[in-house]
Amino acid sequence: MGMNNTTYDFHSMIERRDGSSLKWNQILAYNRDLPAGVIPLTVADMELKNPPEIMEGLRDLLDHEKTVLGYAGPPESYTDAVIRFLATRHAWEIDRDWIVNTAGVVPAFWHAVQAFSHPGEGVIMMSPVYHPFFYAAEQFDRHVVNCPLIDNDGRYEINWTLFEKLADDPTNTVLLFCSPHNPVGRVWTEGELRRLGDICLKHDVLVLSDEIHFDIILPGHRHIVYATLGEAYAQRSITFSAPSKTFNLAGLKTSYAIIPNKGLREKYTGYMRRVSAASPTILGFKACEIAYTECLGWLDQVIDLIDKNRLFVEDFCSGRLPQIRPYPMEGTYLQWLDCRSLEMDDERLKELLWSEAHFFVTPGTTFGKGGEGFVRVNLACPTSYLKSALERLEQVIRHL
Ligand SMILES: Cc1ncc(COP(=O)(O)O)c(C=O)c1O
Repeated sequence: MGMNNTTYDFHSMIERRDGSSLKWNQILAYNRDLPAGVIPLTVADMELKNPPEIMEGLRDLLDHEKTVLGYAGPPESYTDAVIRFLATRHAWEIDRDWIVNTAGVVPAFWHAVQAFSHPGEGVIMMSPVYHPFFYAAEQFDRHVVNCPLIDNDGRYEINWTLFEKLADDPTNTVLLFCSPHNPVGRVWTEGELRRLGDICLKHDVLVLSDEIHFDIILPGHRHIVYATLGEAYAQRSITFSAPSKTFNLAGLKTSYAIIPNKGLREKYTGYMRRVSAASPTILGFKACEIAYTECLGWLDQVIDLIDKNRLFVEDFCSGRLPQIRPYPMEGTYLQWLDCRSLEMDDERLKELLWSEAHFFVTPGTTFGKGGEGFVRVNLACPTSYLKSALERLEQVIRHL
């Protein structure tokens, strides 16, 4: 399956200045005269070409005389590919009925929060965390119930005492869990997952597990899908994932929720119908199918690249930029950088990074409490971008 000897191109410069990229548009709106060679490292999509197998497959699909771009249903071959991928890559045997296709993980967990909690109730989450988690509660008259992670010298841990206390409150009905965790890069261990799950089962908190980053796991770590802990955990959880982070397909809006429990599934799909939730598209289903069957070699090489980039950033900072401390990264392609020793408030820090160094990274405060003094850097890019970005930063910091 997709195992070949191809070496993929992770070096070519891709400048997406044509208006088709959300990330680039945001940065170009900030600075219309972005110098050539400056690449934004903010939003989590890759500054890498898609796997050529996907582009070729989509081209073939469009060239096929019988292809029609009408309303899409999930082709059986797509569903088979998802099932096979979860079994082989994540040791998770699922039934095909459990798959609910969704047009994006963010809309999918927003809908789940609405389907499974009531206005006025609390949604537990652990900051610093992917910011749409907050909106999933706030925008729909639920409370953000924050259980901030504890920074244990660079390795974040769950605050168990607080978590149990929050779970024990019957008005806190769902947990929005990020696994692996964006932005702090933790890959939760089996022990942590089980402890978390046991607390949720005991207090009847539904686990909404966002596992969109589950394929990007760095050497020495192992991702465990929450629902694979056992039947009880599977029956009281929904897992959200997608090929979008892994294969750089976010623009195709193709994702899925896996819901083993029939009652939860029916309630969820009922809610989706009520709000007319969108479906993935024909191109998205096809791209996912190809990704999950033919692009595993590409994925392995991307993980190597991210690991190499992680080491590059670590070496650069320890040798030339001691004011910046990269936190250990276990998964995702997002590096959490501690900039607190610069002793700047967050506004000044952003000004220095964005305006003076053209070091376009996401301010840590985006991710809520605990993000102050940090920034998040996207490492899914050619190593040369990181080198020039860090060199620009080194110059600016030297002249402080
Ligand atoms: C934890 C997490 N969930 C969801 C998403 C985005 O999902 P989608 O583009 O499918 O809505 C991201 C993107 O960065 C993410 O980090």
